[in-house]
Amino acid sequence: MRTQVVIVGGGPSGLLLSQILHLRGIETILLERQSEAYVLGRIRAGVLEQGLVDMLRGADVGARMDTQGLVHHGFDISHHGQRQHINLSELTDGKSVMVYGQTEVTQDLYDARRKMNGVVIHEAKNVALFDLTTNQPHVTYEKDGKTHKVDCDFVAGCDGFHGVSRQSIPDHLRREYEKVYPFGWLGVLSETPPVSDELIYNQHERGFALCSMRNKNLSRYYIQCDLNEDLNEWSDDRFWEELKKRIPEDAAKNLVTGPSIEKSIAPLRSFVSEPLTYGRLFLAGDAAHIVPPTGAKGLNLAASDIHYLSNALISFYNSDNEGLLNAYSETALKRIWKAMRFSWSMTMLLHKFPENEGFGDRMQKTELEYLFSSTAAQTALAENYVGLPY
Ligand code: APR
Ligand code: PHB
Repeated sequence: MRTQVVIVGGGPSGLLLSQILHLRGIETILLERQSEAYVLGRIRAGVLEQGLVDMLRGADVGARMDTQGLVHHGFDISHHGQRQHINLSELTDGKSVMVYGQTEVTQDLYDARRKMNGVVIHEAKNVALFDLTTNQPHVTYEKDGKTHKVDCDFVAGCDGFHGVSRQSIPDHLRREYEKVYPFGWLGVLSETPPVSDELIYNQHERGFALCSMRNKNLSRYYIQCDLNEDLNEWSDDRFWEELKKRIPEDAAKNLVTGPSIEKSIAPLRSFVSEPLTYGRLFLAGDAAHIVPPTGAKGLNLAASDIHYLSNALISFYNSDNEGLLNAYSETALKRIWKAMRFSWSMTMLLHKFPENEGFGDRMQKTELEYLFSSTAAQTALAENYVGLPY
């Protein structure tokens, strides 16, 4: 087989890149090692920056988002009995975010790929990348007991943190930066009405808590927990009781509890691998970087990578210009590091750090009190939350 761009990974990054390139007449073959059902079974955050909303609409994938998504113009932060509304739209000249689950985004992308007869190969096992430093790379994969070979011009590594693409860049050429946080998030999905119309981020001496949602009848809650927590020790009742202790009193009173339809613990890390390119291989999304979910930047950062990478590939094929491809890594990393900074700062601000006893706790409290009292500080937070320019 031969194509112009092989895309490894059928998550949001790979699917969005495939859709955008297909619309511009560029051939792709997407190789996903899992089944579509497995990919769609993942529960992920869903706060979309305007940039991603625009990209989905521009790629003919925005219709369901526009009917089912919830436009949010702000969110609340609470700490030590205080609660502050961050009015995103007022602070950012009218910008907002769209609350729409990543699972729904992925479903919409799969539907769009099917509608356009996009080549998406599931259960493609043991993908391997070859001749990346030549102008004729190729990829092999196994399916139905056979090994298949795909010749191509470029390989887009959209295969997430555990994928093969980043590992295909020789160790001595890669610089990795990582911070692992000493706690996790215990998340619950419940078919209950959200406790509030907007999200509430809670800094509490018992640990962080977040009240979020997927729609008016599907709520998503998180509490900070130890990394070695045993999920079996967390009944629904225990979760709800702990959540109530960490959120504002009026919210705790209004909280509608119900059976969890999903419950899981996720670790938190900050991670960046540089550079994003190796010959004809280009990394995008979680294959290149991981952010703690506190700032809801994972999906949005994948989107800006795909914005830069798709523009670069389109420029190459339409104008025979390699300039944007050569600049991709440096360009994308500038925005990646700013989102890395924001996600790290939100995580440091809102979570309980055992080593913070005393001075550190007071610094956190003072930081929050300053934020609550300063329009300038709120503006800085708001412009990062709605998404810095591409
Ligand atoms: N071969 C083929 N596919 C692979 C391989 C491989 N060797 N390794 C991983 N994959 C697939 C995974 O099964 C997954 O479906 O690549 C896909 C990567 O998708 P994501 O991990 O979702 O990464 P990305 O598409 O960049 O989306 C980033 O997803 O994980 C969240 O928080 C993250 O919101 C962010 C978003
Ligand atoms: C979520 O709804 O899963 C969510 C929302 C906002 C975040 C993190 C997670 O910052």
